Amino acid sequence: MLTRRTLMKGALVAGAYAGGVGLAGRFGGLAKAEAPVTLVARPGEAMITDKGPTKGVMTYGDAEIPPVLRMRRGEAFALRLDNRLDEPTTIHWHGLRIDNRMDGVPFLTQPYVYGGDGFDYAFTPPDAGTFWYHPHCNTLTQIGRGLAGLVVVEDPADPVFDAEIVLNLRDWRLGGDGQFIAQFKPRDAARAGTFGTVRTANWRQSPQYDAPAGGLVRLRLAATDVTRILALQMEGAEAAVIALDGNPAAERFALDHLMIGPGQRLDLVLRMPDTEGAVAALKDLRGTKPATLATFRAVGASLKRDARDLPPLTQNPLPEPDLSAAAEIPFVLSASAEERPKDGICGSLGYNFWAINKVPWADDTGDPTAPLAEMKAGRTYIFNVENPTPQVHPLHLHGLVFRPMNSNKQAIRPHFSDTYLILPDEKVQLALVADNPGDWVFHCHIIEHQKTGMTSYVRVV
Ligand code: C2O
Ligand code: CU
Repeated sequence: MLTRRTLMKGALVAGAYAGGVGLAGRFGGLAKAEAPVTLVARPGEAMITDKGPTKGVMTYGDAEIPPVLRMRRGEAFALRLDNRLDEPTTIHWHGLRIDNRMDGVPFLTQPYVYGGDGFDYAFTPPDAGTFWYHPHCNTLTQIGRGLAGLVVVEDPADPVFDAEIVLNLRDWRLGGDGQFIAQFKPRDAARAGTFGTVRTANWRQSPQYDAPAGGLVRLRLAATDVTRILALQMEGAEAAVIALDGNPAAERFALDHLMIGPGQRLDLVLRMPDTEGAVAALKDLRGTKPATLATFRAVGASLKRDARDLPPLTQNPLPEPDLSAAAEIPFVLSASAEERPKDGICGSLGYNFWAINKVPWADDTGDPTAPLAEMKAGRTYIFNVENPTPQVHPLHLHGLVFRPMNSNKQAIRPHFSDTYLILPDEKVQLALVADNPGDWVFHCHIIEHQKTGMTSYVRVV
């Protein structure tokens, strides 16, 4: 029988393995907001391929890869962004339900942070789970070149695992020489988006992690790529989904070709094989070329855990929509717009392929376009979203969580989320309580779609 104590013992052992992941970092111990940490955004280079360092990378912090920022639910967190890039940037805290002024959208919620300047972010994360942070400015370039890291919000009451592995899943658009090539092709931006050429987990091609044989590993992963949608499968071990997009799944379910798009996160419980040296593989089975994203090697004598003994994650304090008093708001995605966008700022791609409710919004500017909807604080709304386009779109709403319901195309597991992967010809309802005042961006997280019109915002007053 699995007890908390035996798991704790296991967790201590596993600390050694987690160290190899290079993610504990100097933010690892941040329990309370003592002095704010400083996070530097800077140019750099990285060993992504075997062709030598890739130049022109953008990253956060001292290490090659952006650190995993660890916070605690209900405890104040403070971070100073120090921008040492030679262009403006900001940080958006994807999935965190925090004050609008901390949301990181240039002109809508905060000014540009110019090169040489800084910005103080301070908030208290209300929910535990796996989230991520990235710029909301010149996003295709900045995320495409590296600026994306994971956020882990811990809850001390969560079950203890034998090990934890955090995976930042993304691609890079590199040529045969390992250097960046053009970030996108307009022709592809008008379709599924332009795909990367090198696939990585934690900036390595198919890295291998050690974990205790027969142990229970909490695998936290985020799809941080600008384009690619994944269909995830674990081979060689059992893996079950325990949280989707940060929030606990109502019921655990086996990972089986689960599709997630840019912006989405999964927490898995991976039950390691019993035999020392046995390897499990996380695969993406979407498209014509299945890829092994990362592997996990069993180490030591089997701990003989049973995943069924793992207690559930603690629930987050999410607002339950009141469907009896909901107002409905239509959102229709389209592959063209009725009007031209105003002059773009902050990384416009110079094209206009997409729109929401026929209004294109090429950029993260609050001024030229009115909000697509105004909601009253505390009321329940249902977004009736339709996707008559031939593409899949990961639609992301800032600052609020919704409950997907009633799709005409896919079975929906009851859960709360901030990103919904809408299929071609799908109609879905997203129910939410407008409990967080401010202007909240609602956009496709395929960044080329976002930056060529598929962006809007809603206002909560
Ligand atoms: Cu993950 Cu508007 O962003
Ligand atoms: Cu899209």
